[in-house]
Amino acid sequence: MPRELKKTERPERQELLTKPIRVAVLGSGAREHALAAKLVASPCCRELVVLPGNEGMARAGLKTAPVDLKDHAAVAAKLRELDIEFAVIGPDDLLAAGLVDDLEAEGLLAFGPKRAAARIESSKAFAKEMMEAAGIPTARHVVLKADDAPKLEQVVESLGGYPIVMKYDGLALGKGVRICVDAREGAEFVKEVFEDKIFERVGRSEASGSKDTKKTPPPLMVVEQLLSGHEVSVFALTDGKRLAVLEPSCDHKRLGEGNVGPNTGGMGAYSPVPWLGAEQLAEIVEKVFAPLLTAMREAKSSFKGLLYAGLMVRGRDFWVLEYNARFGDPETQAILPRLESDLLPLLYGIANGCFERNLDANPMRWSSNACVNVVAASRGYPEAPETGMKIEGVDDLLLAKGPRVYFAGVKAREGGLVTSGGRVLGVSALGESLDAARSDAMAALEKIRFEGMKFRRDVGSVRANY
Ligand code: AMP
Ligand code: GLY
Repeated sequence: MPRELKKTERPERQELLTKPIRVAVLGSGAREHALAAKLVASPCCRELVVLPGNEGMARAGLKTAPVDLKDHAAVAAKLRELDIEFAVIGPDDLLAAGLVDDLEAEGLLAFGPKRAAARIESSKAFAKEMMEAAGIPTARHVVLKADDAPKLEQVVESLGGYPIVMKYDGLALGKGVRICVDAREGAEFVKEVFEDKIFERVGRSEASGSKDTKKTPPPLMVVEQLLSGHEVSVFALTDGKRLAVLEPSCDHKRLGEGNVGPNTGGMGAYSPVPWLGAEQLAEIVEKVFAPLLTAMREAKSSFKGLLYAGLMVRGRDFWVLEYNARFGDPETQAILPRLESDLLPLLYGIANGCFERNLDANPMRWSSNACVNVVAASRGYPEAPETGMKIEGVDDLLLAKGPRVYFAGVKAREGGLVTSGGRVLGVSALGESLDAARSDAMAALEKIRFEGMKFRRDVGSVRANY
């Protein structure tokens, strides 16, 4: 790491954010594009750069600069070189690898939880432990280590039998959860986790940037009851004590319309969520967010940042499926276009220890409009996406006032953009209803073309089972 900054060299910290600052957003997906687009519009933002961002964002008018986000020393050096006063971290693997800890040790201000608190996402066993300690509603579960593998059938039996949910304990690029319908599938997942260790490579690379994570702990897995109902994502900004809940959203994880086909990183999202009433949301805050913050403070891993609860809701009942330690993708792309008030002072206040004052001065104000975000993916996604396809039709949309385009898997070639990943871009449209928003998102997507482009036409519709 570069040398430690002397106190006098550290950038001035404002208590109430009133003087414009230089901001960086770290990451390169559509979520980071949406965050950057929101933050750059803040009157408190003097300049914004996305590190490393992508060439689509640059085409959309955002400043980007290359950096290896796994190399924490390089990130700190880049933030200094660019005179950045505040860094907002998007992806979970950076948080789990302790990027916030390392930047703070360097005297830099960053938005996101420290490594110990990010375990609420990076360790399913830790999350379950916290939920149990706090009495938070969640599926009944048992944690297994390699030695326990022969007990699997007994454990499944104790949880009510198959079908059952099995989860690898660490970060696994969204692939660590399996619904097993019988003993054969259960045994197969156990073998993948404990014998073939297929998820450990992900865990190791995720931790590579941090100093104190050299030894990989033995793998664990969580076995839990399968729950049914409707899923919803609820986000709250918090400094570890005070909470500010954002408007709820739902994402569509399955590839195909009507929720069929393989699971993906998300094919679209919508907000608001018509089936989740204000009363139930208040109960979720009371039973799911507040007790977790207390439990985490007591475990000496106070959470500051964006806390994401993924919930299963059935009638009046709800259960936490997972907590995440960062903004969700693609939910963020459906939520932020609805936020009319300034986001920057809230994120800055959380990082700087003055959330309360900044929140009181900038209460969140939401548009009554609905927002639908639809992801355009490559042919072959999620298994083997084809890349290198020329993208046409986006420039007019970038110039127009209507639906916004947020870029993910794209790169520049021959003066234009080509696809470079499975989820290529997303389009977010606002409208008086979800139907109106979806129809505008569809009209925008009809203007975009790349070979093999696919997207769902039912995001936020009754057909998609919202
Ligand atoms: P997680 O990463 O723990 O949220 O799991 C990913 C996805 O698996 C969730 O969004 C759900 O669709 C599904 N899932 C996880 N846990 C359960 C459960 N106990 N019952 C039913 N579905 C689940
Ligand atoms: N939308 C799911 C996630 O961000 O994890």
